[in-house]
Amino acid sequence: MSQLKMKGLFLTKYGLLIHKNIAFLEKKLNEPCENDVVIEVNAAGLNPVDYKIIYGMGTIIMRPRRPFSLGFDLSGVVIGKGKNVQDFSIGDAVYSKVPWNQMGAIATHTIVRSDMVALKPTNLNFIEAAGIPLVGCTVVDSFKVADVKKGTSIFIHGGSGGIGTFAIQYAKYLGAYVYTTTSTSNVEWVKKLGADHVIDYKKEDYRKIIQNVDLVYDTVGGGTARKALKVVKNGGKIISIAGHHDDETLKKIGVNALIRFLFRIKGSILLFRMQQKNVFYKHVWSYPNQNTLNDIRELIEMGKIIPVVDRVFPFEEAINALKYLRKGRAKGKVIVRLKDD
Ligand SMILES: NC(=O)c1ccc[n+]([C@@H]2O[C@H](COP(=O)([O-])OP(=O)(O)OC[C@H]3O[C@@H](n4cnc5c(N)ncnc54)[C@H](OP(=O)(O)O)[C@@H]3O)[C@@H](O)[C@H]2O)c1
Repeated sequence: MSQLKMKGLFLTKYGLLIHKNIAFLEKKLNEPCENDVVIEVNAAGLNPVDYKIIYGMGTIIMRPRRPFSLGFDLSGVVIGKGKNVQDFSIGDAVYSKVPWNQMGAIATHTIVRSDMVALKPTNLNFIEAAGIPLVGCTVVDSFKVADVKKGTSIFIHGGSGGIGTFAIQYAKYLGAYVYTTTSTSNVEWVKKLGADHVIDYKKEDYRKIIQNVDLVYDTVGGGTARKALKVVKNGGKIISIAGHHDDETLKKIGVNALIRFLFRIKGSILLFRMQQKNVFYKHVWSYPNQNTLNDIRELIEMGKIIPVVDRVFPFEEAINALKYLRKGRAKGKVIVRLKDD
């Protein structure tokens, strides 16, 4: 293992121009720690957090020494392991959302804590599996916080994105009634994911259609949560993964008191309006782990969740893949292929 080299997509400096701030680099692979597995990566799933990190947004959480390797979602094969790892064997096909301090999924090889890794769903190929971990764990964690169950009415913003495509299917599996928004060209295929009511936000104002839902799931950010107040019932819930960060969530992810104070001021009007309507608001920050990945694998193997892959880029085109995702128009997941299945 000590001779093994990895090639990955590295952040070299922070900035808004993706192609100027990242580069392909080769490095010697470290030895795995006692609880780590070494994975030869077949495919890496991209997420908006990957380009947000290039912009420097992740620095409120941590600031690793540059250059550091990018990417959180992967599928691949275990090729080595630390001495304490019992639950994986060499040759196992796995998928993972790697933790922040082991970032580096867009790479030929990577090292990951074994409790963040699970066996890949057997009915998916590596490309399909690589797009699941981060969005899947985020949606499962979000719906747990919101207590989504049979009969919950839920409005999912952005039904065609990576999160939206998973969220619609998972909400239907739980027995919820699902409203969602998408743009004109996506309406038909988003309906096929199972949403009960798909609203073309280019032509219709959802605030004139939806009333008194139990839950709004904000995956878009900006002014979405504020506007959504109009459609959520008194005493309902708004869960956001892209909008205002509440104090408790910021504290949990280790953000310092000064930055938390600034967030509190920025969000004060929004939170005041929520209180007036007795709406529970939470920004969910997902903590993926092996148990959640195992639960998701079962759902996928039962056919309850079907992955939606938009585009697959070869490794050497990974920078273009990030630029494509950043346009914000993905229809499902954008994947980088490291190795053929
Ligand atoms: N807190 C967390 O732990 C966490 C985890 C995962 C993701 N996130 C965040 O959640 C957000 C969504 O992530 P993602 O992976 O789903 O991103 P994505 O795949 O890039 O989402 C793109 C989709 O958003 C849709 N969209 C854009 N504006 C819209 C609008 N106004 N109304 C309805 N749909 C709209 C687009 O559909 P159209 O082309 O039809 O407009 C497109 O399908 C990102 O900001 C991401 O950083 C947070």
